[in-house]
Amino acid sequence: MTVYQATVSAPVNIAVIKYWGKRDTKLILPTNSSLSVTLDQDHLRSTTTSRADESFERDILWLNGKEDPIKEGGRLATCIGEMKKLRKQYEDANPNEPKISSYRVHIASNNNFPTAAGLASSASGFAALVSSLAALYKLPSSPSELSLIARQGSGSACRSLFGGFVAWEMGSATSGTDSLAVEVAPREHWPEMQALVCVVSDKKKGTSSTSGMQRTVETSTLLQHRIREVVPKRMEQMIRAIKDKDFTTFAEVTMRDSNSFHAVALDTDPPIFYMNDVSRAIIATIVEYNRASVAAGGPVKAAYTFDAGPNAVIYALEKDMAEIIRLVCYFFPQGVSFEDPMGVFPSGVQSGVPEGFDVNVVKVAETGSVSRLIHTRVGGGPRVLDDSKETLLAQDGSLKV
Ligand code: DP6
Repeated sequence: MTVYQATVSAPVNIAVIKYWGKRDTKLILPTNSSLSVTLDQDHLRSTTTSRADESFERDILWLNGKEDPIKEGGRLATCIGEMKKLRKQYEDANPNEPKISSYRVHIASNNNFPTAAGLASSASGFAALVSSLAALYKLPSSPSELSLIARQGSGSACRSLFGGFVAWEMGSATSGTDSLAVEVAPREHWPEMQALVCVVSDKKKGTSSTSGMQRTVETSTLLQHRIREVVPKRMEQMIRAIKDKDFTTFAEVTMRDSNSFHAVALDTDPPIFYMNDVSRAIIATIVEYNRASVAAGGPVKAAYTFDAGPNAVIYALEKDMAEIIRLVCYFFPQGVSFEDPMGVFPSGVQSGVPEGFDVNVVKVAETGSVSRLIHTRVGGGPRVLDDSKETLLAQDGSLKV
């Protein structure tokens, strides 16, 4: 009996030009283009196994070990349905291929980072889902073609179909066929680009991206300015900065765009606050760090960015990352768990501030206000794994325990 199955992993991406607002909520078509850096799957990833079998009675998805209902007309059902359609087209064009497009599927998906870390898993999750079905179905589709489907799971997921530096072109067609992800540059173009994810503790349940951005679309006048005037220019500047490996421009545009996104959140009625006092203290730390560097005749060395929550992601080049980790550990002490997967501190991280940094600008935070630091770098796109070793499904197609 042939087993039709594939296992794939997909990366997380963190936008430097933010997606915020939909012009079509069903197809997930954005009100502006966006751009992100794909993070390394060696450190952060979603892994998904998909299997098609004639004996399966219904489509089932297990997320982190628990069944996640596939609601009719919902985002999961849309993505699975679209992938089955592509398989059907492939079977029609290749009559010798097995007719598995009509079979039900069992899908199991895991993230290697805890949801409690407050990291968005929907981008890597939907990218892994679509990529595993594409591998199962042996589709000849390009990453951009698959991004059209991942986009309908979660907008930002379309950018996780590529590694490196990725743009989501908003497109103009009402059908959404030109709203897709494209590679701006592969990871090899600028491998020195690294990221430090600062997990900021937050007890409150925040406003989800999906509902928050819709409220912004409905009520914010500032959003219209962002869509028309701000983002189009920044997309051009950012693409140029990446092509030229111009970190100063990359950092300035990244920080300004994060601020602009949080400004339109604040301009929403009622207002939405994603950052907290710890987030703002991280901003103050990075601003002072850059000021001290520039005052000493050096370059801008770090860029902060925040998504729909209090966590910071700091982008910096490899040569400056050790100094930045020491700085973050100084102002956000102890509770920080730093795993150092890239072996930057062989004998343990020592906190400290670089020369010229004015320590009075930032107050040392309460212990544990940054609970975890994840040091990673720019990474590649989805990977097809060795299914015999990495499968998340048992032999009979149920969830492997
Ligand atoms: C702030 O992609 O999570 O992270 O399309 O409704 O699923 P949906 O939203 P989602 O929004 C991400 C918003 C953001 C910015 C970004 O990633 O570009």
